[in-house]
Amino acid sequence: MDKEQKDFSKYFDFSDAKIVAEAEGKTTYRIKGRNVQINSRPTYKEGKRRGKEAVEVHYDFDIPEPMRKAGEGKLYHLTTYGCQMNEHDSETMRGLLEAMGYQPTEDRREADLILLNTCAIRENAEDRVFGELGHLKHLKTEKPSLLLGVCGCMSQEEAVVGRIMKTYPFVDLIFGTHNIHRLPELLRDAMFNKELVIEVWSMEGDIIENLPKKREGVKAWVNIMYGCDKFCTYCIVPYTRGKERSRRPEDILAEVRDLARKGFQEITLLGQNVNAYGKDFEDLDYRFGDLMDDIHKIDVPRVRFMTSHPRDFDDHLIEVLAKKGNLMEHIHLPVQSGSSDVLKKMSRKYNREQYLELVRKIRAAIPDVVLSTDIIVGFPGETDEQFEDTLSLVREVGFDSAYTFIYSPRAGTPAAGMEDTIPEETKKERLYRLNDTLNEFSRIGNERMKDQVVEVLVEGESKMNPDILSARTRSNKLVHFAGPKELIGKLVTVHITDPQTWLLKAELIEEAVLRHA
Ligand code: SAH
Ligand code: SF4
Ligand code: F3S
Repeated sequence: MDKEQKDFSKYFDFSDAKIVAEAEGKTTYRIKGRNVQINSRPTYKEGKRRGKEAVEVHYDFDIPEPMRKAGEGKLYHLTTYGCQMNEHDSETMRGLLEAMGYQPTEDRREADLILLNTCAIRENAEDRVFGELGHLKHLKTEKPSLLLGVCGCMSQEEAVVGRIMKTYPFVDLIFGTHNIHRLPELLRDAMFNKELVIEVWSMEGDIIENLPKKREGVKAWVNIMYGCDKFCTYCIVPYTRGKERSRRPEDILAEVRDLARKGFQEITLLGQNVNAYGKDFEDLDYRFGDLMDDIHKIDVPRVRFMTSHPRDFDDHLIEVLAKKGNLMEHIHLPVQSGSSDVLKKMSRKYNREQYLELVRKIRAAIPDVVLSTDIIVGFPGETDEQFEDTLSLVREVGFDSAYTFIYSPRAGTPAAGMEDTIPEETKKERLYRLNDTLNEFSRIGNERMKDQVVEVLVEGESKMNPDILSARTRSNKLVHFAGPKELIGKLVTVHITDPQTWLLKAELIEEAVLRHA
């Protein structure tokens, strides 16, 4: 047994594995009576490495000839878990699949291909996927030709790949976040070889610019960078998404212009840490503030970005955002904790005072800015006082909304090795108290909007009531009002009549509709 096999055997029994074929970097093993083709597999050790290799940008992607019609007459079903980055990756996968002739279906029972694009951020995210895999087993039994694939962030974890092999042997394909463009070829292998195909690159690859993307609706996501180099001690993303790589400004600007021409009303620029944009350019002094300034000049009504890290939020960026226009006055600025000691243990690289100072600077430049955040409670060793510091910071800033989480240990991250003695009950209690405080401020923030006349982008019908339209303010607050369906996708002006904790009820102002329509 070679060393590579030995590592893997921690998670899967390789004792009776035999190599049955080897070709072009693909090795097929005979394991427990079936063939498993392993092109490459994830290892934590490599996933942590930050190599100096230059990232190449490719503009010549094409679906390989034999796969161009491989999906004709076939249906696919794709489920996405996790963040916007994953949602956008799913748009790329849909683009690839439909370029191969596949058609989407809502009904899993009639699908020829089912893909789960997974998230690894917290244990409960992973549990949902394992639960889903359990449910899918019977579909595979009923229809053996069905191909079942697992991709996304969970695939980047070596333990997950091992667990799938062991417990869910009916899965046909496992691939990761760095090799989405390989989907057509991997499907070919899975289709024709009738074996499990695993291809997960531990290290990030190059940037492929011209992948097809299937976008729908009035809002579009645009990646500006990939990966994360921050290594917050609780977080798995730097391991599942690789090192920071920025797309070239000209490619981003061309994409935004193209989306504007196609009529998209709102663009969200995506990166795990958008403020680090451009830091990796060796030949160019061009950062996130410069990019926003150039996008500000493009004729697209609304531009947002996700997510900004407080540490690299520089003055130039604040200056550019203060120009407003198509740059929205909403900033999602995850704080994680209000205690400087906890922030230090999280390796966030800013303290409470620095965060509050940043908030003051942003508010001075953009007085009507709306701030939202992410907060983790129950980080290993968090004391009652430290948690109170988080509550007091929440009160001091007055966030309009927040995503809050109980800390979830992630294998391989530094925090997973820290002593954690906080009882589960205490963690839950902290979460409830935090959410109560946040709700109070959501309500206050919303009350402030009573009787204001504001511009909103109509996104669709309300989920609860099809007679009601659902829209967003510039500050990303949810607005509900009665109006005709023709307004979907349009910017209209409404009068806020009844602010509530979660949404603003409003009335349409007719004249403004005519002006915008
Ligand atoms: N790149 C973004 C966040 C990505 S993950 C940023 O740095 O802000 C989204 C949120 O999930 C994080 O902000 C954090 O609050 C939460 N999170 C990440 N890892 C977690 C963990 N191990 N347990 C609980 N929450 C976590
Ligand atoms: Fe995770 Fe921190 Fe990177 Fe955000 S900045 S993705 S929390 S490591
Ligand atoms: Fe989840 Fe991966 Fe996003 S872990 S939050 S899908 S980057």
